Amino acid sequence: MPKFQPVRLKLKSGEELEIREAVPEDAASVLRYTDYISGESDNLTFGPGEFGITLAQEEEYLRAQTKLSNSIYLLGLLNGEVVASLSFAGGARPRIKHAGEFGMSVLKAHWNKGIGTTMLAAFLDWCRGTKEIRKVNLRVRVDNHAAIHLYKKAGFTTEGRKSREFQIGDGFIDSFLMGLELD
Ligand SMILES: CC(C)(COP(=O)(O)OP(=O)(O)OC[C@H]1O[C@@H](n2cnc3c(N)ncnc32)[C@H](O)[C@@H]1OP(=O)(O)O)[C@@H](O)C(=O)NCCC(=O)NCCS
Repeated sequence: MPKFQPVRLKLKSGEELEIREAVPEDAASVLRYTDYISGESDNLTFGPGEFGITLAQEEEYLRAQTKLSNSIYLLGLLNGEVVASLSFAGGARPRIKHAGEFGMSVLKAHWNKGIGTTMLAAFLDWCRGTKEIRKVNLRVRVDNHAAIHLYKKAGFTTEGRKSREFQIGDGFIDSFLMGLELD
């Protein structure tokens, strides 16, 4: 039984989004996707060429993720092409394994089609189904209004603000710490 049952969902554009867990064989497409999105916004913790993960490391990472009950790496695909990703890592020790942090992205060409909302909803459904994950955290640039809107819509609240989380060029940018408690 797969950890995450793949789903196919109709977007408002009429396109069909497939959401499934990434497997080690996806490593090359995940790295290609990651390299591509790194140049599309300054909202991620890496810019173009800064991800610094080899194919072998990515394969190993994805393999490890598939085996962990409180971590997941989800891909969103349109016609078999990776257009979105969402990765969540739960804590490794008993006292922190109920909580973790996630990051997500969508290819710019497909922004505002509802992919982010759909990926987040599928992820939170999975979290609830685990019964193990009880708290989901994230960090987001304070000026990333689209992402903050998305997270608030899903029920996340702002729990704090971290100064100088990003340094891009000469400028520092703060991030909000947001979280969602799950029953
Ligand atoms: C944030 C991100 C994942 C959203 O993905 P998406 O597929 O475009 O999301 P959706 O289409 O489901 O929803 C976008 C929502 O933001 C809203 N939005 C778009 N631009 C906005 C803005 N500048 N200010 C406020 N809301 C905005 C849209 O209206 C939509 O809201 P609605 O569903 O209530 O109409 C995507 O923009 C992205 O990958 N950005 C770059 C990476 C990133 O920022 N990741 C998050 C890091 S914490």
